[in-house]
Amino acid sequence: MSRSAHPAGPRHADVLPEGHYSAPPADLNHLDPKVWARTVTRDERGVATVGGIAVDALAEEFGTPAYFLDETDFRARCRAWAEAFGKDADVFYAGKAFLSRAVVRWLKEEGLNLDVCSGGELTTALSAGMPAERIAFHGNNKSEEEIRTAVEAGVGRIVLDSFQEIVRVAHIAQSLGKRQRVQIRVTVGVEAHTHEFIATAHEDQKFGIALAGGQAAEAVRRALKLDGLELIGIHSHIGSQIFDMAGFEVSARRVVQLLAEVRDEHGVELPEIDLGGGLGIAYTSEDDPREPHEIAKALSEIVTRECESAGLRTPRISVEPGRAIVGPTAFTLYRVGTVKPLEGLRTYVSVDGGMSDNIRTALYDAEYSVSLVSRTSEAEPMLSRVVGKHCESGDIVVRDAFLPSDLAPGDLIAVPATGAYCRSMASNYNHALRPPVVAVREGEARVIVRRETEEDLLRLDVG
Ligand code: LLP
Repeated sequence: MSRSAHPAGPRHADVLPEGHYSAPPADLNHLDPKVWARTVTRDERGVATVGGIAVDALAEEFGTPAYFLDETDFRARCRAWAEAFGKDADVFYAGKAFLSRAVVRWLKEEGLNLDVCSGGELTTALSAGMPAERIAFHGNNKSEEEIRTAVEAGVGRIVLDSFQEIVRVAHIAQSLGKRQRVQIRVTVGVEAHTHEFIATAHEDQKFGIALAGGQAAEAVRRALKLDGLELIGIHSHIGSQIFDMAGFEVSARRVVQLLAEVRDEHGVELPEIDLGGGLGIAYTSEDDPREPHEIAKALSEIVTRECESAGLRTPRISVEPGRAIVGPTAFTLYRVGTVKPLEGLRTYVSVDGGMSDNIRTALYDAEYSVSLVSRTSEAEPMLSRVVGKHCESGDIVVRDAFLPSDLAPGDLIAVPATGAYCRSMASNYNHALRPPVVAVREGEARVIVRRETEEDLLRLDVG
């Protein structure tokens, strides 16, 4: 392959090395609404704004790196999901994507429920006033203490993930004189088309109880016998960042089949099914996610059809979107520190964060886009790799993307669609200080999770 000889690094699509990219976009200054939060635009100076506030002012006030979350967009997405599913279904926001007390309050106000998967998430939810009955508690190895806290608080459901847990939860509930509402999480044997680490319904993995071999039917048999449990339904989550509805279709069919078997064996029609989360979002302009109303319609049609053919009353459906709600609502703002053109390859752009604030690229080979946001530029596109400041060559934030070739230290660049699984999976690698999350709404910006300080690091290090 011929290589570009330009001193600023490779620029033209016909001379670029192989990588995860297509041709440079027609307009590098365009902030594609597909990947950017709803209120993001550019002001008359060409500086990107969110909620009416320019990113240069945000960087000045809150520093970089930082996550900026468009509260208007977050609330609109909550409403879109709630409206799409209507009053005969329940939407549980998956807190693992990103949870803070402000988020819990927004969820509460917008009428959503909450899925938590650890004692920490449960505490956050309860401390911000989420009514316990609107909380679902997940996890493949909940501790006895976590179970006790959840049962005592009166969570709306605990999703059981193993035979041991069926007994454990029943025992704890009984010892507290309670009957706990539970669902059983089953693995339906679907190969979801996503990264291996975020696919969860094939059989060879840690979550759930397999439908295959009658395991799930046995779990139902045991749960129905225990006084401490009220079995309300079956749960299935097939994986994450999924665009294709086919996997949900198979999953719904198999879950309904189990409901029919339960009815035949026990004369009980379980009233609920939960089809989990996992709906994909656009990380780049090439991704085409579905809208909540399309998803709601497809899921309810599948369940209704399958129940009709099995002669079952249609159960109440619930879903657990995390990424699809919070993912698109935030971006990470970084300041460029160094720009290093590697002749014939690409230009390495080092920013002041990295794998400590976004591990997804290193962990899942995730794709992201990136834009220069502190100004516009008419310079030619330059194939770039946005890297962090960590001591590791895999410390990549955006593997391959085009930035203008006049990019310079001091410029602000932003990576959109980082609302989900970035702050929640952030680490202190190299003793990095985890960035703040700043919520922006109608001209006001406020910190909802503050930046870590060196004192925070030293406080845990007890010498
Ligand atoms: N429900 C259950 C039971 C789950 O396990 C998950 C995600 C969700 C709902 C929400 O899935 P979502 O709608 O957000 O895709 N760290 C990975 C994703 C792990 C997802 C784990 N469970 C990532 O960054 O892609």
